[in-house]
Amino acid sequence: MKTYQITLLAGDGIGPEIMGVARAVLAQVSRNCQFHLNFTAAPFGGQAIDLTGEPLPEATLEQCRASDAILLGAVGGPVWDDHPRRPEQGLLGLRSGLGLYANLRPATVRPQLVAASSLKPEVVTGVDLLVVRELTGGLYFGQPQGIFPEKKGERRGVNTMTYSESEIERISRVAFKSAQSRRKLVTSVDKANVLAVSRLWREVVSRVALDFPDVTLNHLYVDNCAMQLIRWPKQFDVILTENLFGDILSDEAAMLTGSIGMLPSASLGEGPGVFEPVHGSAPDIAGQDRANPLAQVLSAAMLLGYGLQETTAAAQIEQAVARVLDQGYRTGDIMAEGMTQVGCQAMGEKLLLALAEGI
Ligand code: IPM
Ligand code: MG
Repeated sequence: MKTYQITLLAGDGIGPEIMGVARAVLAQVSRNCQFHLNFTAAPFGGQAIDLTGEPLPEATLEQCRASDAILLGAVGGPVWDDHPRRPEQGLLGLRSGLGLYANLRPATVRPQLVAASSLKPEVVTGVDLLVVRELTGGLYFGQPQGIFPEKKGERRGVNTMTYSESEIERISRVAFKSAQSRRKLVTSVDKANVLAVSRLWREVVSRVALDFPDVTLNHLYVDNCAMQLIRWPKQFDVILTENLFGDILSDEAAMLTGSIGMLPSASLGEGPGVFEPVHGSAPDIAGQDRANPLAQVLSAAMLLGYGLQETTAAAQIEQAVARVLDQGYRTGDIMAEGMTQVGCQAMGEKLLLALAEGI
């Protein structure tokens, strides 16, 4: 039987609870589809700081490198806010350490959850977009960066937004390829009216577009894109953008769905990919069985589809999630009148039942 090595980085806050659900779902679906998943947990984030002083211990990174895919929960919490090493540094270290340059963040408004959005139903019904965010360049990683002393004792904070042509080209290809299996529209987002780096971005994206004649390419300035996302989000299929713009726009896109607790993501590079929910570690509800595990479970589906090419298994998870929503089960964050409120554990059990019924 085919066996895959999966590293589980549960992390902090609600991470361990939602990871428990996703692991059980993965185990079930692997039995359904006749392959084997070998799970190994490793310390990461605040939990790893407590254990080793480092948010991404070398042994954890090595283990990730040696696995077929990585499922990540969430990191961070107030306990580590004043710590010299922050859990978020572990996340950036993982992205650069594994060369995860392509971050895929789908935002889909599900028919069962239209009412959860803060926007009007006619604006959000049918929204189905994918943010393709560059993840290892731009302001997050550009040099020089730091806080530097200047004359008269004043200091200067510096970050650098920089992209090489090859960095722009490879992320563009991911966006165009994704669009080919969707509605064949790429909107590249930049600030080319002001930034030199954006002018190069626009030039390279336009050049790559020539290799994908079946895909239509639009360009938007980032401020306009932020506006269009809440004005008429259905105009978007694939949004292609650089690291910081993608960070901001993907949160905005997530909120269209009204439920950040539902959204998965994939970070891909040349090696194993990392799959994680878009939401954070929610320390305020940790350990209370109140978390919504569905984003973690849908991240597990992305792991199967994008990471292992086990597309049948991925589809089974998607169907199970749709089924429990159809059955009216809701965690507190997506609760609505007439529905049945359940905790994290119970949602997991409903998913396992749905998976068993589906075969
Ligand atoms: C995200 C997060 C991270 C980012 C933080 C936690 C470093 O906001 O994944 O979007 O800025 O990339
Ligand atoms: Mg973010």
